[in-house]
Amino acid sequence: MHLTLRQLKVFESVARHLNYTRAAAELHLTQPAVSMQVKQLEGSLGAVLFEQLGKRIHLTEAGKEVLGYARNITQQLDELEAVLNRQKGLAGGRLRISVATTANYFVPTLLGSFSRRYPDITVSLDVTNRETLLRQLSENLVDLVIMGRPPAEADVEAEVFMENPLVIVAPPEHALARVKKIPLKRLQEEVFLVREPGSGTRIAMERFFSERGMHLRTGMEVGSNEAIKQSVQAGLGLGLLSRATVDQELALGQLVVLDVAEFPIMRHWYMVHRRGKRLSPVARAFRDFVLSEAKQLIGQHPARLKPRRRINKDDARRPK
Ligand code: PGA
Repeated sequence: MHLTLRQLKVFESVARHLNYTRAAAELHLTQPAVSMQVKQLEGSLGAVLFEQLGKRIHLTEAGKEVLGYARNITQQLDELEAVLNRQKGLAGGRLRISVATTANYFVPTLLGSFSRRYPDITVSLDVTNRETLLRQLSENLVDLVIMGRPPAEADVEAEVFMENPLVIVAPPEHALARVKKIPLKRLQEEVFLVREPGSGTRIAMERFFSERGMHLRTGMEVGSNEAIKQSVQAGLGLGLLSRATVDQELALGQLVVLDVAEFPIMRHWYMVHRRGKRLSPVARAFRDFVLSEAKQLIGQHPARLKPRRRINKDDARRPK
């Protein structure tokens, strides 16, 4: 019998919800990915686990048996993890992290999952812009930082863990909302709302347009992603934001992403710490957790699937 723990976890979630869509949302997977895991588990076990009666799915007799075992196995593993964590001195530890304003749209999901795995760890989280993060690193005020790529001259170690596409958003009634392949130059006729100086998003935006010899008309300078979204909805201008910040507004039809040539600009997220810093067991556990799980927990969320069009490797070309 060849089965994986992942298949058992996915199966347990579907069996609990008796619904593939809800299980997919809980696991941050797509629905086809969930169905595939269940199919593979059925294949390995040589048993059918669900049956469809009308619109609803039900557990078969074999499914009920497997569910009991799946829960036991998961519980045993959780216990094992807790025992090992205690041995490693992780219990009762404190984690001090600072994250870029924009990263705060996905960091709570990571922290939620991390805290379930290490319930005894206390987390102190600061949310601030790029400039302040760099200062906190140089003054050794935090264990770890999550930010866009730090400048090459900063005395830090940085590991990439996830993509961060930047997109241009407009209100749904905007003249360009339905236009396909908008030429970059057309943006010069629009007004843009920009983040405060010191924001990584703003730095990436300015670099992108200045490299192309373009000068954008900027309207209000706005100190947060939330305020930019509100202002864009109010018709005060276009916004250039991380795709992760607008999931909800896009789903509700309050904003649209414009189909602009050369977009999205592809930035990346990095896990950063001061070079030579001895990370505590807790900080090491969090770093390893994010590096190995973030993509799965956040990146595969259906709302965040990679854009299909060609992307601009902003980070790949420049060290900032
Ligand atoms: P922020 O961004 O400082 O604009 O919130 C993060 C980054 O992309 O560096």
